[in-house]
Amino acid sequence: MRLIIISSSPNKDGLTAACAAAAGDGIVEAGGEVELVSLNDLKVGMCQACDNGWGTCLEQHACQVLDDFQDLHRRTCAADGLVLVTPVYWGEMSESAKAFTDRLRRCEANRDEESALRRKPVLAVAAAGGSGGGMITCLASMERWIQHVRARTFDLLPVNRWSRAYKLDAIRAAAKALTLELK
Ligand SMILES: Cc1cc2nc3c(=O)[nH]c(=O)nc-3n(C[C@H](O)[C@H](O)[C@H](O)COP(=O)(O)O)c2cc1C
Repeated sequence: MRLIIISSSPNKDGLTAACAAAAGDGIVEAGGEVELVSLNDLKVGMCQACDNGWGTCLEQHACQVLDDFQDLHRRTCAADGLVLVTPVYWGEMSESAKAFTDRLRRCEANRDEESALRRKPVLAVAAAGGSGGGMITCLASMERWIQHVRARTFDLLPVNRWSRAYKLDAIRAAAKALTLELK
């Protein structure tokens, strides 16, 4: 089983990175393989709403804006499950997470039964390190995204500065359970 963890904070040693590491530990404990992606190290730009709103994403299920998206699209679809970890910015996903998930949704959402992410389990983690607010609105948009791409919500986990210690344990346990379920 190969799980891809997509982490989307510029901080290498922040709360988001700790959550991604905890998920990785859980996957390894369950005997799974981890592919850890730090989105902010890649060049994945915003959707350009090509042509009159839809570009090649609608019919060809491929994005025509060429950057690091294409390779990450392929790797994400090839994984058996997905862990999305984002810092909470303004009660939403980070800009890098939004850019990637927006483009991925356009490529996979209109494929119905053929979505490459269909029924794949997704563990979504929202890390709010500031006021601690906005975790739920962030997770709500992540849940909608999971539904749009026809994937399956395995769990939605909010974490803030105060809950960090026990939520890292929960993230590890959730990632372990997800991996064991896939075996
Ligand atoms: C633009 C911006 C907006 C933010 N908005 C929120 C927020 O709505 N709620 C919150 O608790 N923290 C907010 N924060 C703080 C981040 O969630 C916090 O820095 C978090 O720890 C980010 O993860 P990191 O430690 O991996 O960088 C914001 C930070 C930035 C840079």
